[in-house]
Amino acid sequence: MANDASAAFDTLSPAVSKGSLADPFTPPADSSLWRKNFLLGAATASYQIEGAVDEDGRLPSIWDTFSATPGKVLAGDTGAVACDHYHRWEADIDMLASLGLEGYRLSIAWPRVMDAAGRPNRKGLDFYKRLLNRLKEKGITSFVTLYHWDLPQHLEDRGGWLNRDTAYRFADYTDLMSRELAGTVDAWATLNEPWCSAYLGYGNGHHAPGLANDRFATQAMHHLLLAHGLAIPVLRGNDPASQKGIVANIGRGTANSDSAADQRAAHLFEVQHNAWILDPLLKGEYPLDLFELWPGTEPLVLDGDMQTIAAPLDFLGINYYFRMNVASDGAHGFRDVPLEGVERTQMGWEVYPDGLRDLLTGFKKTYRNLPPIYITENGMASDDKVIDGHVDDAQRISFLKRHLAAVDQAIKAGVDVRGYFLWSLMDNFEWAFGYERRFGVVHVDYSTQKRTVKRSAELVAKFLKERKARV
Ligand code: FCB
Repeated sequence: MANDASAAFDTLSPAVSKGSLADPFTPPADSSLWRKNFLLGAATASYQIEGAVDEDGRLPSIWDTFSATPGKVLAGDTGAVACDHYHRWEADIDMLASLGLEGYRLSIAWPRVMDAAGRPNRKGLDFYKRLLNRLKEKGITSFVTLYHWDLPQHLEDRGGWLNRDTAYRFADYTDLMSRELAGTVDAWATLNEPWCSAYLGYGNGHHAPGLANDRFATQAMHHLLLAHGLAIPVLRGNDPASQKGIVANIGRGTANSDSAADQRAAHLFEVQHNAWILDPLLKGEYPLDLFELWPGTEPLVLDGDMQTIAAPLDFLGINYYFRMNVASDGAHGFRDVPLEGVERTQMGWEVYPDGLRDLLTGFKKTYRNLPPIYITENGMASDDKVIDGHVDDAQRISFLKRHLAAVDQAIKAGVDVRGYFLWSLMDNFEWAFGYERRFGVVHVDYSTQKRTVKRSAELVAKFLKERKARV
């Protein structure tokens, strides 16, 4: 079968396997991507792929509740089955390995591994142990995110991230995971995209738990960052050999005009998307401009919190997708002014690779203690179809090539970027957009669970094979 996922590495479509370096993906000869120690991998997240939501003692998460609420997720989709990865993980890891991918970023479902009293759930834990051991056997570098948004519902019932106690519960969960999994994890990330958890979850209600209040968002963010800061020393104590970090989504904001008001709006966009998270982590303080944007929303911060949050990091994970063109909203903030005639993805997001380079080089100037960076997510959704057993995702190939070129430019400008994870290994449950938006480099047919390697993945595999073969 030409496109059987597990055989993909050896059965590249003829046009690809015969091709020379001049294919539509392979980076130019002078690209830093050719460095063998530049880690190239793929990422997923538990709720988006696992399914099996009530098996082996898994408890409900806020995403089970939210997706079961009519009107919250497109087409009423839920993560109940998703990619059925909980049952198909071995074949999925074989597929990852067959593509020659060197790193895998996954997340642990907190409600799968711990009961409401904080006791371990052995069956859930064993799932991750088996998976991580298999990655180790295959020589694949593992990046494990502890929290990719699937908060146990019982904690939300007690206030979720609005309750300071949740930060301490997260530290307990981190303690259990890092004691149980020490030695099998190469890099730990505490949180995925606290901006999304805080703002989409508690600020505008587009994500679980679906609350909408700016003051809630800043307080939820503070407790998320506190959870992170409490977890870092726990990880250092239990698993000293691994790397420890956090994953932040970043956004590029550009001004719609040269007017001072629009320039200020673009600045405030980046304060809200980037500095809100990175300043506390790397400077130990919130950016004051945030509270110009959202007057009166200062969170309750207790003595010592900011020092806890600013615990030194071994790496910073960066997720980048698009830019927003903004203008002043005439009051304190910004408004989106969509540009016409620009390339967009199935999400409607503008394809803007320069934004990644510009943000990375900007961070290097802003943060003197910027840790080494991994791009922990980058990719795009397209309405991919399997035709004659193949998926020709030409836009994604070009997207990936251009974003990797932007990473190369940042490296050449002196930013220490050590790796890049494609979002995502396979099509999956795209949160409020359900299954319609396809981000994978592998196609998933949800009615049969058949995986089909897309052309983008074939080309990445081809590049990795060539890189490996180099002396
Ligand atoms: C990021 C999320 C990830 C995925 C991509 C498209 O915000 O971390 O789970 O949904 O967006």
